[in-house]
Amino acid sequence: MSQRTFSIIKPDAVKKGHAGAILAEIEKAGFKIVSIKKVSISKAQAEGFYYVHSERPFFGELTEFMSSGPIFPMVLEKENAIADLRKLMGATDPAKAEEGTIRKQFAASIGENAIHGSDAEETAAFEIGYFFAGYELK
Ligand code: CMP
Repeated sequence: MSQRTFSIIKPDAVKKGHAGAILAEIEKAGFKIVSIKKVSISKAQAEGFYYVHSERPFFGELTEFMSSGPIFPMVLEKENAIADLRKLMGATDPAKAEEGTIRKQFAASIGENAIHGSDAEETAAFEIGYFFAGYELK
């Protein structure tokens, strides 16, 4: 059954001009881009998005980074989208990411790691709703 997930091309990848190449990988892997936009978010908006990590030591660094430049939030659809996108992204730490994954190719560090992808259905629902209104998801 078709499933939706949420992804962000992060500020490091946008700044380096890798957004197009990352989108090409995503489409090549069979995902339909349901919706996509380019936005810049405030630190407070990044804190709201990543609230589950608020107690982590890297929370300040993470939210500072995510509000440091434009990002491409998007909604993707395919069968098994959540797990398949995480496989395509590779490990959070690019040094541990498998060859051919997006993070192996485009990420510089665990913080500046090019792409975000939802880790579960409930997270995907929250994250899609955080960035997109219903009318943008046709
Ligand atoms: P993401 O999938 O967007 O979800 C949470 C993010 O926290 C993760 O990707 C990493 O970019 C970031 N993160 C995780 N661990 C660390 C860390 N040790 N230092 C900085 N950022 C981290």
